[in-house]
Amino acid sequence: MSLRVTNARWYPKYHIAAPGGWINDPNGFCFYKGQYHFFYQHHPHSTQWGPMHWGHAVSEDLVHWSHLPIALAPGEEYDRNGCFSGCGIEKDGKLYLMYTGHVDLPERTPEGVGTCQTQNLAVSEDGIHFSKIPENPVIRAPESDEVNQGDFRDPKVWKHGDKYYVVVGSRTPDFSTGQVLLFESDNLIDWKFKSIAMRAEGNEGNMIECPNFSNIEGKDILICSPQGIKREQNMYMNLYQSGYFIGKLDYDTGIYSHGDFELLDYGFDFYAPQFTKIPDGRTIMIAWLQMWYSRLPEDVDGWAGMMTLPREIHMRNGRLFSQPIKELESLRTSEKSYDNQIFYEDTKFDGVEGETGELILEIDLAETKEFEIDLRRSDEEKTVLSYSADLQLFKINRDKAGAGGDGERECPIAAADKMKLQIFLDRSSVEIFINDGEAVMSSRVYPLTEATDIVFVPTSGTFKIDSLKFYTLGEGIPQPVID
Ligand code: FRU
Repeated sequence: MSLRVTNARWYPKYHIAAPGGWINDPNGFCFYKGQYHFFYQHHPHSTQWGPMHWGHAVSEDLVHWSHLPIALAPGEEYDRNGCFSGCGIEKDGKLYLMYTGHVDLPERTPEGVGTCQTQNLAVSEDGIHFSKIPENPVIRAPESDEVNQGDFRDPKVWKHGDKYYVVVGSRTPDFSTGQVLLFESDNLIDWKFKSIAMRAEGNEGNMIECPNFSNIEGKDILICSPQGIKREQNMYMNLYQSGYFIGKLDYDTGIYSHGDFELLDYGFDFYAPQFTKIPDGRTIMIAWLQMWYSRLPEDVDGWAGMMTLPREIHMRNGRLFSQPIKELESLRTSEKSYDNQIFYEDTKFDGVEGETGELILEIDLAETKEFEIDLRRSDEEKTVLSYSADLQLFKINRDKAGAGGDGERECPIAAADKMKLQIFLDRSSVEIFINDGEAVMSSRVYPLTEATDIVFVPTSGTFKIDSLKFYTLGEGIPQPVID
């Protein structure tokens, strides 16, 4: 029996989450026959990770989602311990899913390999029912002394010219260094190993999970989720990271030359992002709003894990910016607006509060050298955002945020005359977009339902807000029926 949500206190109103059970990575995010399809790693029978299935949701606008039946379940020889992460692509009017078949070996090999991972295809003509194809597995780990034979997963396919390419996450045989493998095919079924497209350097990790590749405004962008990056001062404080490289793939040699690794999000909870190009040319990214092995208090309510909002990715000043997609405006149900507010003590604004909602602020930093904004505040609880122009750091602190993890995360934001913040609250999540997507911080928080205040705190005397808007938001995901 699939689990169902038994208490909606932390269940999102407008973020993708499963109807019950465990979820992790986004999978197969694509546009097919007029709808956006979004799949996810899913264990329907438990709130813990287990044999992975692919859950499935569809939407016509990337905002309002409906659940569809589970698309993939483990069961074949090559995927008997799980259908791990992968992608979706349309070919000849059919929707193909490429995923990793995961098998646990009865014991480790002398080289330390404990798994067999292969890439496999499932196909559908209606976008709902999928059949695994008889040719599976279509890609096995290349027998090379530079490729680990166990960790070989998370394919992402795209078409370039008249050929198909796929990147697959990998590491070296000694488990020390992450790398991305590239394969090439004429027909999506027969694949040839092309190259080790890139290998981690310095502190870039010992395994690359979930590589995704896309050309954005003329640059080849690799996003990926490396494991094993070590903390550097207050950077890389999460267990695993997700970030991007900007570069160029040479399709003749298969070599990807690129710049430095940059983070995609500075919050506590962001992993395994996946992006897709949609028909109007935008690149849209969704990630798991979670981090491996963090505490998930919602598991007592029959569910565990949710996704980020869809974000539009674009290049600006040689960096990737991520902004909430404009379609999310259709969720807005009412608006409160305040202009030119200057105050010297803790301040609340009438109608600016809630367990869900969207807050847009333009702050005059010339007058506001330091500030704090307390979200989801009650007498006992608060999730604290703060900025200091002296330190040039924006922070989120969860020490008093309720159940769940605590601690602080920060991101560098240069001092300027103004700062723009767009903040989404959704019962157990906070996403903060700073300066139109220059940096984003995404985190889970688990306050009491009644902790709804938003309090503006002038920590160095003056707080000046040029404009403040607060929107109440409607539903984007079916709400659990609790009996
Ligand atoms: C990333 C990941 C993937 C794998 C999946 C298993 O979070 O570890 O590498 O395919 O999760 O659920």
